[in-house]
Amino acid sequence: MQNKRRPIVAGNWKMNGSVELAKQMMDTINSASLQDVDVLICPPFPFLSAFAPFNGAIGGQNLSEFDSGAHTGEVSGSMLKALNCDFVLVGHSERRTDNGESDLLVAEKVRVALEHGLTPVLCVGEPESVRDSGEYFNHIQGQIDAVISVIGIASFEKIVVAYEPVWAIGTGKTASPIQAQEVHAFIREYVGKLDADVANGLRILYGGSVKAANANELFSQPDVDGGLIGGASLDPQEFLNICLAAKG
Ligand code: PGA
Repeated sequence: MQNKRRPIVAGNWKMNGSVELAKQMMDTINSASLQDVDVLICPPFPFLSAFAPFNGAIGGQNLSEFDSGAHTGEVSGSMLKALNCDFVLVGHSERRTDNGESDLLVAEKVRVALEHGLTPVLCVGEPESVRDSGEYFNHIQGQIDAVISVIGIASFEKIVVAYEPVWAIGTGKTASPIQAQEVHAFIREYVGKLDADVANGLRILYGGSVKAANANELFSQPDVDGGLIGGASLDPQEFLNICLAAKG
């Protein structure tokens, strides 16, 4: 594998998992040799503290735009930090759909994550109807523009972007390596018009039905710097095999 920025393989457990699974995942990852890849697990909040000692990073699946106060059910950036999180997913399509998170709210959450010293993994991607209409570049550009308008382009140095076509999430319908590369190259080029160095260093992950069987081909694309893995991150051996594919 040439190019490249240091790969990240991130597991998004969504509302799944258990303390037992956290232990199995730790055993599997801790006994592997993965120096050349950043491994990240984003379990539900109650399992974050089960990840110790872990030879990888942990992250939240969401954070509040507020720091504290009367916001029942929310978790702040400082709370994630206190549980040793280094990362947080922001703007996952399920949050955008289930919780009505707008582009601007997502942008604000990216800002708050940075303020707390967390690396936001900004999720972008188009639903199937937008893919079919051919307007997907515009859709993704809008999602990215909202974040640029709040944090500025220079701060993109401190974030990770995950391209997750909504039609490929949990559907078994993976974007082809060519489709993924097309959008990743678009994102890098778009950011590059504003800041070439930031674009060059920006890590852009692909997410959407990644498995060990298709990871290698996806990760070999020049602008794909790893993956955000949902379903397959619930199987420690499968997830490890995806991490090994990112190692090249
Ligand atoms: P999937 O989910 O790998 O199950 O498609 C990816 C995601 O939603 O992050």
